Amino acid sequence: RTCILIGAPIDAGQKVPGCIMGPAAFRTAGLARALSDLGHDVQDYGDMTAAPLREVTSPNPAVHSLPEIVAWTEALAQAGARAMQAGMPIFLGGDHSLSLGSVAGVAAHAAHAGRPLFVLWLDAHSDFHTPATTQTGNLHGTPVAYLAGRDGFDGFPPFPAAVPPENICLFGIRSVDPEEHAALLTHEVEINDMRVLDERGVVAPLRSFLERVASARGMLHVSLDVDFLDPTVAPAVGTTVPGGTTFREAHLVMELLHESGLVTSLDLVELNPFLDERGRTARLMVDLVASLMGRKVFDRPTRSFA
Ligand code: ARG
Ligand code: MN
Ligand code: MN
Ligand code: MN
Repeated sequence: RTCILIGAPIDAGQKVPGCIMGPAAFRTAGLARALSDLGHDVQDYGDMTAAPLREVTSPNPAVHSLPEIVAWTEALAQAGARAMQAGMPIFLGGDHSLSLGSVAGVAAHAAHAGRPLFVLWLDAHSDFHTPATTQTGNLHGTPVAYLAGRDGFDGFPPFPAAVPPENICLFGIRSVDPEEHAALLTHEVEINDMRVLDERGVVAPLRSFLERVASARGMLHVSLDVDFLDPTVAPAVGTTVPGGTTFREAHLVMELLHESGLVTSLDLVELNPFLDERGRTARLMVDLVASLMGRKVFDRPTRSFA
C-alpha cells in the first residue's frame, strides 16, 4: 500500500505543552522505516501548517484557541481529502483536535466515492463535547461530535457528510463527562467502554463492528489516541486515565484491524514526547502501527471478515 505521512503539529486543542513535538517523535521512532520494512510504499508529506487565522469567537467563554483550531481543521480537511486519492493517509499529531480536520477530509472523500464511512475511536475519552458544552474549553474533546454532525460548531467549516452515529464505535473509553453522557444517550453510537472490554475482551466487540463495516462495503477511519493505552505502558500523554488497554490487547486490536483489510486512514494523536520515558511511548505507537499494517509474530493464512 501507499502510506502517506502527514505531520500536524497542533497543540492548541488542549493546555499541556509538548504535543507539538509529536510528528518529530513518530519520525524519530522510525515510523517510515517500520512501514517500508513491511513492503509498503511510504511518502512523507512533511509537517503541515494551519490555514490563515480568521476572527472567530465562541458563545462559550471557556473555549480557547478557536481561530487556530478552525484554521487547522480547514487545512487538514483539504490535505486529507487529497491524500485519500493517493493512498492511505496517516496523520501524525498533535492533539486530538487534529481529527476535526482529518475526518472531515476523509468523509468528503468517502461521500465523493459513494461509500459509507465508519470510524473506530480508540480512546479513554468519548470526545463528544461540542464547543457549546465543553467545560475545559479544550477542543480536542470535540471531534466525535463534529463528525457525527452535532450542532454547536459555529465558525467551523460545515462537516461534509455527517457520519451516522451507528457507524461510530468508541472503544476503550473510561472517562465521559456528564454533557457527553447525556448526548450519547440520544445518539446510537456503538460504545465499547472498559466495562464491556473487561467482560468480553477486545476480540468479540471489535469483530462484530468490523463485520458491519465489511457488509456495508464501508471505508474505515481509525483514530488512535495514546491514552487508549494504559499509562503504565504509554506515559507520554497529557490526559492519562488509569485502567487502559494493555500492550497485548492493543496489539491484538491492531492485528485484527490488519486482517480485516478495511482500514483506509489513520490518526495517531496526543503523543506528548516531553512526557515520555526514553521514547518508549513513541516506539510503542510505531510498533502498533506496524501491527496494523501487517507485522506478525508468525505468518498464518489471513482470516477474512467478508
Ligand atoms: N472530556 C474532557 C474534556 O472535555 C477530556 C477530553 C480529552 N480528549 C482527548 N482528546 N484526550 O476536556
Ligand atoms: Mn481523544
Ligand atoms: Mn483521550
Ligand atoms: Mn469536559
